[in-house]
Amino acid sequence: MSVVGIVPAGGSGERLGADRPKAFVVCAGRPLIDWSLEVLESVCDRVVVAAPADWLREGWVEGGPSRSRSVRNALAAAPEARTFVVHDAARPLVTRELVEECVGALLGVDGAIAAAPVTDTVKESYPDGTVLRTLDRSRLWAVQTPQVFRAEALRRALDVDDDALAGATDDASLVEAAGGTIRLVEAPVENFKVTTAADLARAEAALC
Ligand code: CTP
Ligand code: MG
Repeated sequence: MSVVGIVPAGGSGERLGADRPKAFVVCAGRPLIDWSLEVLESVCDRVVVAAPADWLREGWVEGGPSRSRSVRNALAAAPEARTFVVHDAARPLVTRELVEECVGALLGVDGAIAAAPVTDTVKESYPDGTVLRTLDRSRLWAVQTPQVFRAEALRRALDVDDDALAGATDDASLVEAAGGTIRLVEAPVENFKVTTAADLARAEAALC
């Protein structure tokens, strides 16, 4: 049963604003992506990375114009996979335990994804910024990666046009749209995403 890791690293890191794509910015002494790669390589049979053309290492594939397109490019390079573990290069604090917990939670569902209970009160707004309603926080989760899928379910879910891929903010939503079932796995708050320079400083402090 081949477990293949996929690391989408094809973004430009616009909000971080560094001199190179975010995944290759140095964080605590090595490229940000290497923290995630080390963890995935310890759990998966192999790992496929989708990266910008100028940053490819051996065996990697070129990313696409959207995150989900990058994931699709990577999964096309792993026809042997029975399970995919998708994890963003931008979350360097992932642990082996969290990945294994997601893999273990895959039994009987199409996907098992890391998520944290929402701690802020969340409101839905009208376009003009006035409040439409307050949502029931006890049922809300902020979704992260790793996201683990039955390979066939992910392949089918990502077999949609580029607009649908571009509109998706995670892979699980595409599996849901294709009728798949997803289980949430509670993740530690430390598994945050590096988006801004302040996030990068926080990750560096945590990893040093
Ligand atoms: N990603 C990707 N291909 C894209 C866009 C994003 O593989 N076309 C990857 C990023 O490299 C990152 C993950 O998806 O590891 C999450 O995306 P995000 O945090 O938004 O990273 P960027 O798109 O690089 O950052 P920004 O949106 O600020 O430009
Ligand atoms: Mg982005």
